[in-house]
Amino acid sequence: MMTSSQGHFAVRQATHSPRDGQNPPASRFGQHPALNNPDKLRHAFAAFPSGVTAACALIAGQPTGMSASSFTSVSLDPPLASVCIARSSTTWPALRTAGRLGLSVLAKGHYAVAQALSARGIDRFAEVQWTPDEAGAVFVDKACLWLGCEIRQEVPAGDHVIVLLEIVSVREFPSAEPLVFHQSRFRQLRTEETS
Ligand SMILES: Cc1cc2nc3c(=O)[nH]c(=O)nc-3n(C[C@H](O)[C@H](O)[C@H](O)COP(=O)(O)O)c2cc1C
Repeated sequence: MMTSSQGHFAVRQATHSPRDGQNPPASRFGQHPALNNPDKLRHAFAAFPSGVTAACALIAGQPTGMSASSFTSVSLDPPLASVCIARSSTTWPALRTAGRLGLSVLAKGHYAVAQALSARGIDRFAEVQWTPDEAGAVFVDKACLWLGCEIRQEVPAGDHVIVLLEIVSVREFPSAEPLVFHQSRFRQLRTEETS
């Protein structure tokens, strides 16, 4: 009988695509210098395109927030999402004290907002138009989506923490086009199919 690890290996072998001259054999993946160089690994991860969210709240009456491209939907029932926050963040220790966190999915005109909300030593909200809710969440105006969230769990994960968020309010703006972050650059979507 096949063990589960053998089964996993068998699946990996079965799904390995025929050599096309571009991909090295799987056995050589483990030797890549990115595995012991965080800058190289960040560069490799940047091949994965993502949206950009702004995680913001009123802290001591002041809008406080940071850009986060690590947003992921997690569960529909109950409604959960997550973001991964670097342990080095100087904003998260304040932001995590918020009773309610606003997550705004940034729109294509928001690259300056994304940069401002990641810069240190400035008033991040000086040029950002924002709206608070009654529970202290802060949302970026003209975003694609607003999610009001409550922090349910923080799971240590290496040099980051995975923050599990329960979504308690949703406001959609379907006509807004998203901002895309890919290979450390801000981009826009283009539709390929016509139907
Ligand atoms: C497009 C973009 C996406 C980012 N995504 C994340 C993220 O998912 N998690 C994170 O911890 N920092 C992320 N950052 C960095 C933070 O926004 C911020 O720059 C960093 O936390 C340093 O500031 P702080 O010390 O005030 O937190 C991102 C920055 C940019 C510009």
